[in-house]
Amino acid sequence: MTAEQRSSLARLHRRRRSPAWLFFRRFLAHPLRLASVLESSSALSRLVAAELSCDPGDYVVELGAGTGPVTRALLAAGVPPERLIAVEIDSEMAAFLRQSLPGVTVIESDALALEQALPRESLGRVGAVVCGLPVSLLPAAQRGELIGAMLSLLPPGRPFLAYTHRLTSPLPAAELGLEGERRAFTLLNLPPASVWAFRPLSR
Ligand SMILES: C[S@@+](CC[C@H](N)C(=O)[O-])C[C@H]1O[C@@H](n2cnc3c(N)ncnc32)[C@H](O)[C@@H]1O
Repeated sequence: MTAEQRSSLARLHRRRRSPAWLFFRRFLAHPLRLASVLESSSALSRLVAAELSCDPGDYVVELGAGTGPVTRALLAAGVPPERLIAVEIDSEMAAFLRQSLPGVTVIESDALALEQALPRESLGRVGAVVCGLPVSLLPAAQRGELIGAMLSLLPPGRPFLAYTHRLTSPLPAAELGLEGERRAFTLLNLPPASVWAFRPLSR
């Protein structure tokens, strides 16, 4: 084999192991579940991490971690790996997360079975929930269930974060008894994206 052939084989091998390629392949397998051809950009991931507000020692739960761009940004923002729980339904992506982010608790599970899936020691000690699932595409009943599960993990009044490619809110907040606030927007994502925070409507 020539040097040129070896180097193009190595390139092919690297591409096959890249998170972007994995994400694209899994998108082809489950387009609605991923709802995006590309993983989140580092700019969007940093914006999500910057909106996190919880106490040191709290657990942070990320739902729909995918190939981990937001997980990595959370770690870079100072969340200790042993306090970070990444939930992902896709077994290939969960395996990739486990292998590429040692120390992070990766749970291969449907986020709709959240409470049963989380480690016991984290229950009552979750300070932040980041939702990476395409919530706007979920059927109403599942969406309501997911929102209830996320809010029940958090201290009363604490919002959960969600990011979206939509120009408007990913959730019909008032209809769901929530208050939604767009916290950040970036053009440095394909497509451009916003970070939202949702908490129960104060009466
Ligand atoms: C829009 S992608 C976001 C991935 C990653 N967080 C990012 O920012 O690139 C949505 C992710 O949620 C995962 N997902 C979809 N439905 C899920 C469910 N019910 N439970 C857990 N993960 C789910 C998908 O497999 C996918 O990895």
